Amino acid sequence: MMIQYSEGSASHDAVGGLLGLKKLVKDFYAFMCSNPDYAIIRDMHPQDLTVSEDKLVCFLSGWLGGERLFAKKYGAISIPQVHAHLVIHEKERDMWLSCLNEALEKQPYADHFKAYLLNQLRVPAERIRIACERRL
Ligand code: HEM
Repeated sequence: MMIQYSEGSASHDAVGGLLGLKKLVKDFYAFMCSNPDYAIIRDMHPQDLTVSEDKLVCFLSGWLGGERLFAKKYGAISIPQVHAHLVIHEKERDMWLSCLNEALEKQPYADHFKAYLLNQLRVPAERIRIACERRL
């Protein structure tokens, strides 16, 4: 039977809970730092990525149906708003998604879950692009 990843904590379970999510985000930022193709988006971030990593883990935890760690630790968030000061067009949006794709490739998840997650994250990534372009 096909798993319904959108239900309850199915997606959070599929990434291997908080530990699996931390590994995904670590790999995501490691690719962003090591691949010069992503230099433009890497350089938008602070030098020290500790807080950026933690914020992404906390946000994704709730987004995937797990504990709402971002709200708990950092308060309310609007994803398009927190990116609105950045210059994010299609190119930068796609860099972020490629970087995520590379990180997903490294994880022991089922292929259909990797594809599902990448597709789901295209939605906020596109909203960010629209919000950023409106501000320009
Ligand atoms: C579209 C391409 C994206 C780019 C280029 C990008 C880039 C960035 C950068 C540079 C920061 C740090 C901002 C700063 O410290 O001033 C940031 C923060 C953050 N990003 Fe993204 N991001 C993208 C998409 C996403 C997506 C799709 C999500 C989640 C669905 C996300 C979640 C976050 C979170 C939770 C933060 C922390 C916000 C805060 O400071 O409270 N980002 N992003």
